[in-house]
Amino acid sequence: MSAAWLTPPITLTGSRDFTCDSLGFTEEQCAYYQERWHFWFIADHVFALSTIAFLMSVLGIFIIGNFVAGYWAWRASSPWKRAIALTRYLSYRGFHVQALQWNSAPLGLLLVAAAGTVFFFCMDLIPQPYYWPSLDFGSSPPLGTRSGWMALACMPFVFATATKTNWITLLTGVSHEKLQVFHRWISYAFFLLALMHTFPFIVYHIRFGDMVMQFEMGLLFYWTGIVAIIFQAWLTFASHSVIRNLGYEFFKATHLFAAAIFVLIFFWHCDYTLSSWHYFIATAAVYVPCYAFPWLRTCVEYGTRVKAQVTVEENGFTRVSIPANFTWVPGQHCFLRFTSFGFFQAVSSHPFTICSLPSREVHEKSELVFYIRHHRGFTARLNQFALSHPGALLPVLVDGPYGGINIQAYAHSDNLLVIAGGSGAGWTLPFIEQFVLRQSKAVDEEPGQKTDLDAVERETENQERRPSRPFTLRVVLATRDTTSRTWYLQTVDELLSRYATSESLSNISIHLHLTGKAAQEVDLADKTQDLPVESDESPSSSPDGITAQESTTQTPKLATLATLAKQLDGRPKLPLIIQEEAARVANAGESLAVFVCGPATMQNDVRNAVAGTNLKVLKGSKSGGDNIIEFLLQNPVSKIDDRITLASPADTDPLSSRTPEPPKIPVFIYLGCYRSDYKGSPITVSHPNGFPSARP
Ligand SMILES: Cc1cc2nc3c(=O)[nH]c(=O)nc-3n(C[C@H](O)[C@H](O)[C@H](O)COP(=O)(O)OP(=O)(O)OC[C@H]3O[C@@H](n4cnc5c(N)ncnc54)[C@H](O)[C@@H]3O)c2cc1C
Ligand SMILES: NC(=O)c1ccc[n+]([C@@H]2O[C@H](COP(=O)([O-])OP(=O)(O)OC[C@H]3O[C@@H](n4cnc5c(N)ncnc54)[C@H](OP(=O)(O)O)[C@@H]3O)[C@@H](O)[C@H]2O)c1
Repeated sequence: MSAAWLTPPITLTGSRDFTCDSLGFTEEQCAYYQERWHFWFIADHVFALSTIAFLMSVLGIFIIGNFVAGYWAWRASSPWKRAIALTRYLSYRGFHVQALQWNSAPLGLLLVAAAGTVFFFCMDLIPQPYYWPSLDFGSSPPLGTRSGWMALACMPFVFATATKTNWITLLTGVSHEKLQVFHRWISYAFFLLALMHTFPFIVYHIRFGDMVMQFEMGLLFYWTGIVAIIFQAWLTFASHSVIRNLGYEFFKATHLFAAAIFVLIFFWHCDYTLSSWHYFIATAAVYVPCYAFPWLRTCVEYGTRVKAQVTVEENGFTRVSIPANFTWVPGQHCFLRFTSFGFFQAVSSHPFTICSLPSREVHEKSELVFYIRHHRGFTARLNQFALSHPGALLPVLVDGPYGGINIQAYAHSDNLLVIAGGSGAGWTLPFIEQFVLRQSKAVDEEPGQKTDLDAVERETENQERRPSRPFTLRVVLATRDTTSRTWYLQTVDELLSRYATSESLSNISIHLHLTGKAAQEVDLADKTQDLPVESDESPSSSPDGITAQESTTQTPKLATLATLAKQLDGRPKLPLIIQEEAARVANAGESLAVFVCGPATMQNDVRNAVAGTNLKVLKGSKSGGDNIIEFLLQNPVSKIDDRITLASPADTDPLSSRTPEPPKIPVFIYLGCYRSDYKGSPITVSHPNGFPSARP
């Protein structure tokens, strides 16, 4: 393939020169041909720019919503609260398909998708005609032409949502994993429109009997079109989770390869027709800096000689610790690229959640700690290596931090409910550490390095002149094995012994649920010996029809946990727990933030419980006097990320003893599955992706 395939002379923008005389049109034909909805020479403006306008409007609504909501933050009124509850309900309410173990996107996102579907179908199918009445009007059928332009306009958005660091995240704070749903949906539209571009050409020319001639004459268009659509089909369908789960490395390598070939071939296919190449420039402008930025950050800022220490924990988790020269907040993850496990591992990276907090001492280096449950691929190799070389150092490239909780929602919440399942256990540790630090006033007193979260919390306090938030922390962890439960208790115990004071411990409660076979098989005698049982039946902790057995930890080693940890058998009844917590904080006139990391069913239960609470607000139900409980959901439900974070600041009770305080009216932006709450004046925070940003 060479530039010779392109039509000479090559220009950036194709010619729009057109006269009816050159085509031999009658006056009537000329007027008909130049009608706006099917005039070939302006089709890029009419259809591609409209598509750009639609997609930018969707993006803009969420960005503007953030600022508008900031303005209204101080104007608390009942309709406003209900509007918030409605938006939240739409953001959280999702559907779980048990047979497929699949969580749908939230209802609000499904409505956005429906709006997109209506837009694309109306733009494509309502204008008439689909085909020209004769070949006199040209060889491009109007349906094919407009579908092609709309498809092309999707391309910059597909690439804009493809990278971990990206402009949309910079503008809205929506983390890359939450944007994945848009990446997929816009790609579906892109592919469908490409098909609706291709088939009308075939139908049209078969109808007029010149298909073979067209093919021979338009070799460039047809060959490049066919190859491009084959690669696009691969990109669209081979990204399905079934194929990804067969081999993630294979999926990723082929996805990147196919994307590169597709763009190249598609570039030739467009052959500078009208403004088609402008969309390639836009795509490159959006994509290249975002692709390059993490690499530059890793190589220049973090360094390429970083070493990770690997050990295996008692419960089989691989513990990876890495010195770090950057800060992060609870819930953020990094991509780790281990370069000493062969070529394929060196070219792929894996996401893991940071289970530690950055150091607060100026001269002390921070340490990233990851707890990894091994699967069949790289994580199994890493685990084997750590077993045979405990404490060994391995070269690693760190890319991150990404995602994480909404730090403003965290800092503005009175109460935290942190829910995790299985390997999500490690994810809860920074929440506990952060809470204990706040409670023991360590953050304010120590002069060390300040995290983003600290900055927001301090700002919050300055504005609100209140004691440090959050006031309480409740952790609910479900695990299937006893060793993980013991490991968790020991790890929390070590963590608490570093910071905790009796004052800070009194506001924490940890509920550890042992589920599945382990719960049935657990030897009660052992339990009595190691973890004495204290009968305390809690309806919210009981699985259906089974009464939970509960114990408090009183072994000498776990002494600090004795007052706060309860062990229960059976699944936690998460909807009930959330309802109970909501009622409790409503009565106290406080707010609640809910965070969850676990399997799909767990996410589903939590988000729908929170949605249900918002529905009650919407219906005008009052719990605890005039309180309205408001919840905020950050929902990164995506095929590669099973984590949801919910944060839910509630309103201030005007009768609450904690007054005086300005009314806490959450203000949010919502892009896809993202919201951000804030109730004060502007705060500057650092973005999880590393870009600085100012939020109202
Ligand atoms: C944001 C995020 C944070 C995570 N944090 C943790 C954590 O703290 N602890 C933990 O134990 N696990 C965590 N995981 C899961 C972890 O990334 C995967 O288990 C790991 O990458 C599997 O590697 P493998 O080669 O052994 O997987 P395989 O045995 O090949 O596959 C197991 C599963 O992991 C998926 N997977 C494989 N490679 C990747 C990849 N590069 N990116 C995404 N998914 C992949 C596969 O699709 C498959 O579903 C996290 C995942 C995400 C998306
Ligand atoms: N994104 C991140 O940061 C991150 C980090 C780590 C893990 N993860 C994800 O978290 C998930 C954890 O998987 P895993 O294999 O480690 O865990 P697991 O072994 O499957 O254990 C999950 C636990 O949660 C319980 N559970 C499941 N659904 C529940 C529900 N609806 N209500 C109450 N309890 C429920 C299970 O109970 P039963 O035994 O009764 O089923 C079990 O005890 C994975 O999908 C993983 O990818 C994400």
